[in-house]
Amino acid sequence: MDLFQKIEKLKKEKNAVILAHYYQDPDIQDVADFIGDSLELARAAQRSTADLILFAGVHFMAEGAKILNPSRKVILPDLRAGCSLSDSCPPERFAAFKKANPDHFIISYINCSAAIKAMSDVICTSSNVVKIVEKAPKDRPILFAPDRNLGRWVSEKTGRDMTLWQGSCMVHETFSEKKIIELRTKHPTAKLIAHPECEENILENADYIGSTSNLLKFVIESSDSEFIVATESGILHQMAKKAPGKKLIAAPPNQNCACNECPFMRLNTLEKVAHALETEGPEIHVAEDVMLGAKKSLERMLEWSV
Ligand code: 13P
Ligand code: SF4
Repeated sequence: MDLFQKIEKLKKEKNAVILAHYYQDPDIQDVADFIGDSLELARAAQRSTADLILFAGVHFMAEGAKILNPSRKVILPDLRAGCSLSDSCPPERFAAFKKANPDHFIISYINCSAAIKAMSDVICTSSNVVKIVEKAPKDRPILFAPDRNLGRWVSEKTGRDMTLWQGSCMVHETFSEKKIIELRTKHPTAKLIAHPECEENILENADYIGSTSNLLKFVIESSDSEFIVATESGILHQMAKKAPGKKLIAAPPNQNCACNECPFMRLNTLEKVAHALETEGPEIHVAEDVMLGAKKSLERMLEWSV
């Protein structure tokens, strides 16, 4: 029996579901029951009736699934699958900011720990961020954490002045504007599409900016046939499957490296998925006090983004 068959058998035996982010290895995407962006995955986790949820993504996502559906067992194939953006916002420093600025309304991007979510008024993802910022009380200053690139972009889009936490994603800050411009001269009809976690100079060049799901939708629906894609390269797998015949070029990083692959997301492998299903671990646990606060801000996001 190969790994794919083994995983299918284990899923049935354990009444398990695999939820996967677009940045996962293509093999993992192919065994997943549901693939989505952060918002779609949070919704899928909330409504899941499976006994076991295997989250093929990173730690903050699996933690979010546990918070939204605490009666389910949630497992992550590799517990070391963290996130540089989440790490750029340590809870002690965040608590100090909140204490010094009690008047601020806090909007946190979902790429943060449960402790940060518990200290936030509402959570957002890249697909609902405009809606969430527009709904924030007009009479209060806003702190947007932790992604400064997404924060600056949404501030420009909504006209809301915000204090930005100075965090960023190591993958989305890797793209080279110079190499992208060179690529565009070789492919003059290609559209540059980018995730809003990218730096300002990349976003300024982009023809379309959106969350992973929106980038995918854009490629499927567009009448154009060539795209330079500035986000983690895992998304190209679904783009190639759902929009066959379209030419997809991964935006080049500054260095000669595979830096447009998230080193955290890619810690999960097909072998680890099979092992996690077999052993029902490693399991995600969230402390009770943090769970309550984080649930409130996550549920408010889901209410505000319908
Ligand atoms: P979305 O899939 O919500 O666009 O998020 C991208 C991301 O960086 C996840 O880590
Ligand atoms: Fe975090 Fe960036 Fe990896 Fe997403 S791509 S999980 S934001 S490090």
